[in-house]
Amino acid sequence: MGLKDQRLNALDRHLALIGFMGAGKTTLAETVAARIGRRAVDADRLLEGRAQISIGAFFAQRGETEFRVAEASLARETFRQSPPAVVALGGGAVKTPEVQTALRRYAFTVLVDVDVDTAWERSKGTDRPNAQDEVVFRRLYEERQPLYRGAADAVANDADGVILAAAGIHHEIGALERLGELVPGDGPVALVADSTVMGIYGPMAQTALGDRLQSEHELPAGEAAKHLHVVERLWSEFRLDRGGTVVALGGGALTDAAGLAAAMYLRGVPWVVVPTTLVGQVDAGIGGKTAIDIPQGKNLVGAFHWPARVVIDEALLATLPERERRQGEAERIKTELLAGRPLDVRAAAAYKAALCLRDPYDRGDRQWLNLGHTFAHALEAAADFDLPHGEAVALGLLAALRLSGRDTAPVTEALDPQAVKVDRDRAWEALQRDKKRTGDDINLVLLGDDGPYLEARSPDEVRAALDTLIR
Ligand SMILES: NC(=O)c1ccc[n+]([C@@H]2O[C@H](COP(=O)([O-])OP(=O)(O)OC[C@H]3O[C@@H](n4cnc5c(N)ncnc54)[C@H](O)[C@@H]3O)[C@@H](O)[C@H]2O)c1
Repeated sequence: MGLKDQRLNALDRHLALIGFMGAGKTTLAETVAARIGRRAVDADRLLEGRAQISIGAFFAQRGETEFRVAEASLARETFRQSPPAVVALGGGAVKTPEVQTALRRYAFTVLVDVDVDTAWERSKGTDRPNAQDEVVFRRLYEERQPLYRGAADAVANDADGVILAAAGIHHEIGALERLGELVPGDGPVALVADSTVMGIYGPMAQTALGDRLQSEHELPAGEAAKHLHVVERLWSEFRLDRGGTVVALGGGALTDAAGLAAAMYLRGVPWVVVPTTLVGQVDAGIGGKTAIDIPQGKNLVGAFHWPARVVIDEALLATLPERERRQGEAERIKTELLAGRPLDVRAAAAYKAALCLRDPYDRGDRQWLNLGHTFAHALEAAADFDLPHGEAVALGLLAALRLSGRDTAPVTEALDPQAVKVDRDRAWEALQRDKKRTGDDINLVLLGDDGPYLEARSPDEVRAALDTLIR
């Protein structure tokens, strides 16, 4: 299958959930829809509402053939509507060729996987027409599996899994060894990595890409990659045509630069992100923002370019120096504060992915991810960027929590931020430059009992909060 034919994510299309009865599609559709800011549609409930009869009674009185016709017609109608929704389909809907065609054309389809014992436990004793006899139920389950797998673009079994799939993110320990299969399409690949990461993981990536590997490009490690001359060099070295893919293997600095190179080369070629730092796996690799720095400031030139796939392999973090891991911890703790619950790498990635699916161009809720960052950026600028971003974020989170009137223990206990020695006036000037204003007031992301919100606070309050971070 060529790249053009593949459905890589649910960004501009419906997200359809398919799978056997008892898989939990209805509940998952509601959870996922709320998290990615879409309407949830349950095809069976919709049909029952229209026909004014339960699915069980419809089957019994009018037969399966008539039911499938009604089901297909409703599916077609739903998929033609916009904006895109999260649609839970009935267990047998994919039997109908018309539904299969509609899925291919209008949806990114996730198979909600369930084992047969769990499905039976959940379905027995209900009025579901195909759950009246265990032997029939189990046979049907086996029969349907190839049908589901044939129609699915991805497989998942929880809300985070559905969201990750919908964003084109593949999370698997050891995934780097399968990189060749995980890069969509079958065209050539330009592999870009920083000098450190190429030394550690380059050989494994080369082996995994096999014959598809057309060229390799080594960039300087760290922020030094995020310069126009580095990106320009990539453009001069690439030999890809539009059927090719850039694979960016590295931390946030590397993927920001390589992503921008991919966004502009031939007016945009697909790219795959393989984040190798914790910052990359929970933050920078997700959501399609790419950027380079210019003398006037960090990340001032960039583009939105959603990756064809993000491959999160936590095994790659084994070689990450402790100093770098701490940078990522700050972003992970930030995400926990936003979500209001503990999050591992996979769950933190899914949280960010949901916000980015909801607001791909950073015009609304995606700005929540800036929690604490207004203060962090000001401190970094006042320190001439000689302050690790994670430490600045940890301090920024303290200020955000204080201004929100909340306990700072989750941050002090996990990150132990220490006040920094920078010039107070420079930090304040930088903060005022950095942020959008409402009159004199400064817009901040704050945390309430129900989660994050945007609020304008007076300059006096904000400056006082900033001052507590400086010694
Ligand atoms: N695009 C976004 O949405 C976004 C979000 C957050 C941050 N960022 C950007 O990310 C950058 C910071 O990224 P970062 O913290 O990942 O740092 P980084 O990319 O600078 O990498 C840090 C260092 O770790 C090394 N390294 C990376 N992976 C390794 C591994 N697995 N083993 C051993 N060494 C490894 C690198 O060679 C480098 O020296 C900043 O430029 C920031 O602006 C972008």
